[in-house]
Amino acid sequence: MSSEGQNLPSSAELAEMDRDQLVKLGTKLDGVELVDYPDPWPVKGTRAEKRAERSVALWFAIAALFGLGFVVALIWWPWQYKAPEQSGTFLYSLYTPMLGVTLGVTVLALGIGVVSYTKKFVPAELAVQDRHDGEGEGSPEIDRKTIVAQLEDAGSRSTIARRSLVKRTVGLAGGALGLGVVALPVASFIKSPWKGDPADTLWHTPWAPEYQGEPVYLRRYTGDSSQIDLIRPEDLDAGGMETVFPFHESERNDPEKLGAVFTRSDTPVMLIRLRPEDAAKVIKRKGQEDFNFGEYYAYSKVCTHVGCPASLFEQRTNRILCPCHQSQFNALEYGKPIFGPATRALPQLPITVDAQGYLIARSDFIEPVGPAFWERKS
Ligand code: FES
Repeated sequence: MSSEGQNLPSSAELAEMDRDQLVKLGTKLDGVELVDYPDPWPVKGTRAEKRAERSVALWFAIAALFGLGFVVALIWWPWQYKAPEQSGTFLYSLYTPMLGVTLGVTVLALGIGVVSYTKKFVPAELAVQDRHDGEGEGSPEIDRKTIVAQLEDAGSRSTIARRSLVKRTVGLAGGALGLGVVALPVASFIKSPWKGDPADTLWHTPWAPEYQGEPVYLRRYTGDSSQIDLIRPEDLDAGGMETVFPFHESERNDPEKLGAVFTRSDTPVMLIRLRPEDAAKVIKRKGQEDFNFGEYYAYSKVCTHVGCPASLFEQRTNRILCPCHQSQFNALEYGKPIFGPATRALPQLPITVDAQGYLIARSDFIEPVGPAFWERKS
């Protein structure tokens, strides 16, 4: 730190020096001369100073307010997906914007508060520094003492110690932001996505009939969840694929239930009509020999790897592709995985046609859909 040839004070002299002298020494050793180091508020307690303090505190208060707003939005705002026709869609659609706006304003206000405090209360010194080759040296003790003195001086001249309003609002803003950071990982444990579902919900899907013998129809989504569009075999061309959802007759006049079926992750099913020449090559899984209806096969659309929608059907090869990690399943061999990280076949939905000619599910899946979970044996 010191320039060559400079007289360095001894340890005893260092111990005698006050903070101002140490600051001057430190800057001198760095080749910096403090020309002017004015106190921005030489007269303490003026109305102008108090006004400046309040304006800084206001930014921190805004940051605290929006930080708390972020935590509230994260935990209490309606976050579960609602189809456009369901009640509560508008509030749900504001969930992400609410998080973005509250967190954004918190960080912005905090930043403005810090910059504003620095401009208003931290002395703007005028210093001159000579160019040097950067190979200066100083004793470690001098370095330590002068640097500590400079840091203490910066802290003292910033006058933060006596600005209780600013300190309180900074604490509030920092606390609210910290709360948000903690709430982010914790929030997902506070609200259960399974709330209201039966305890064994992972083992069943809405394809299960609600009473013995209830037909569960295959229904397509038209973009309007209140519209009930059932499927007949002739609706699908050979080699075609259609995504279908379950429909229970008891839900006909219940818009909430009609829409809810599209918001669940375990309902989508791929209905595939094989070409006759491909249907002849099908290898069926033991115990599932009658799950298809002629050339029609229905597989869960939830990838057995980590649950992405395996929504691509390649007609030429009869492969079902998952775009997430490129797993491929063979539609001609009970949805067996033939490429990629998935290790289990896509569960097959047993289907048939009712007396009116509509495709229906004969039962729920006979195994859980989607990826593994802790209680699953296979
Ligand atoms: S989720 Fe389908 S391959 Fe990973």
